[in-house]
Amino acid sequence: MSKINAPRGTADTLPADSWKWQAIEEIARQIASCYHFAEIRTPIFESTDLFHRGVGEASDIVSKETFTFNDRGGDSITLRPEGTAGVVRAAIENNLIAQEGSRSKVFYIGPNFRYERPQKGRLRQHHQFGVEAFGVAEPAQDVECILLQMDFYRRCGVQDLSLQINSLGDQESKRRYRDALVAYLSPKADQLSEDSRRRLTENPLRILDSKDPRDQAACEGAPPAGESLSDKSRAHFAAVQKLLAEAGADFTVNANLVRGFDYYTETLWEVTASGLGSQNALGGGGRYDQLVENLGGRPTPGVGFGSGLERLLLALEAQGVSLPDARKPLIWLISHGPAARDACWKLLAELRTAGFAADMDLSDRSVKAQFKMADREKAKFCLVIGDTELADASVVLKNLTTGDQTTVSRADLLETLSIAR
Ligand code: HAM
Repeated sequence: MSKINAPRGTADTLPADSWKWQAIEEIARQIASCYHFAEIRTPIFESTDLFHRGVGEASDIVSKETFTFNDRGGDSITLRPEGTAGVVRAAIENNLIAQEGSRSKVFYIGPNFRYERPQKGRLRQHHQFGVEAFGVAEPAQDVECILLQMDFYRRCGVQDLSLQINSLGDQESKRRYRDALVAYLSPKADQLSEDSRRRLTENPLRILDSKDPRDQAACEGAPPAGESLSDKSRAHFAAVQKLLAEAGADFTVNANLVRGFDYYTETLWEVTASGLGSQNALGGGGRYDQLVENLGGRPTPGVGFGSGLERLLLALEAQGVSLPDARKPLIWLISHGPAARDACWKLLAELRTAGFAADMDLSDRSVKAQFKMADREKAKFCLVIGDTELADASVVLKNLTTGDQTTVSRADLLETLSIAR
């Protein structure tokens, strides 16, 4: 029979690597808890409408990249392409932000689905650690999210981080910016790519984000977003920069930074790192002060970020950084003969009950083969039992890293192992 492969653009996390995922997820959870964000888990599929109204019909992510299908009842379902829209839906539906002045700070870790052309750092199923903070319109809330994100990368050990920020301003400023871009690019319409000619009427801000060299050339000298900001938005952005500087965060203002979703207002940011090639954005975020209202909630400001975990692992690997390994050292039990095997089986249960990671051969292999298994499974210690050890209630404890070997009485074994690990 022919074999079936994983769908294009997806990746299996194999047992040898799963500890790395656990390590970054553990760091994410710890940092989120330090900043007082609580976990939220939402479904990986939602009504298609949510993304049309939330993320924006004219965004590439919704118009070209969603996995959308009718379920058996005929409802249109979309696998989530990002986390924010679902979290906003859940916050409204569960009354997390129903009261005047209510606040909610949440984080999530989970998969997202985008039908993109796969390449290094770009998958059709990727995972994000993200946060969303609802209910605070002040610049300090933007900065808290940015600092949390940068802290996350630092704790993971990422180097060469670069933080770029920009502001699109409030709705009024955004409209002015859009008009200014259309006025600048319309006379050059015939120099733009086909996609960007369409964007000129549908979603002109996205042209700035195009990788097509024709679009990049046409955008040179385009008016920066900063020129269209209202006084209020200008003050907000200035305060964000002041707070970031006071917190000691390095950043640059990139006047042409735009991001892939229609919901953004005011502050936007993106963090890149070396070692990632062309898909170098580790994560990005921004403020979305109209999104809750657009999805049927009470007008509530919001801000947050999403950070790709596959890209984080790629960057760490490229930079040669090792993550903290929280795996318990493995103890491998080795027996000479059937009576010793029964004793090992009982000892195995005792060790596991006491919280040690332990294992043994279950298929009657030779002693040599058992030692080989211990090596292959990267055990740190072996416990060897033969006739002598059975007779005097002891075990031979061998440290496989150093090769040191001692005989320990069964009565002292758990204590000796606790010290050794
Ligand atoms: P995003 O910039 O589309 O923002 O995605 C966030 C991060 O997810 C990216 O910087 C990247 O690291 C990773 N990512 C995105 N697409 C892929 C892909 N196809 N393959 C691998 N990694 C990918 C958002 O999703 C917003 N929801 C962020 C946000 C939260 N804004 C406010 N709150």
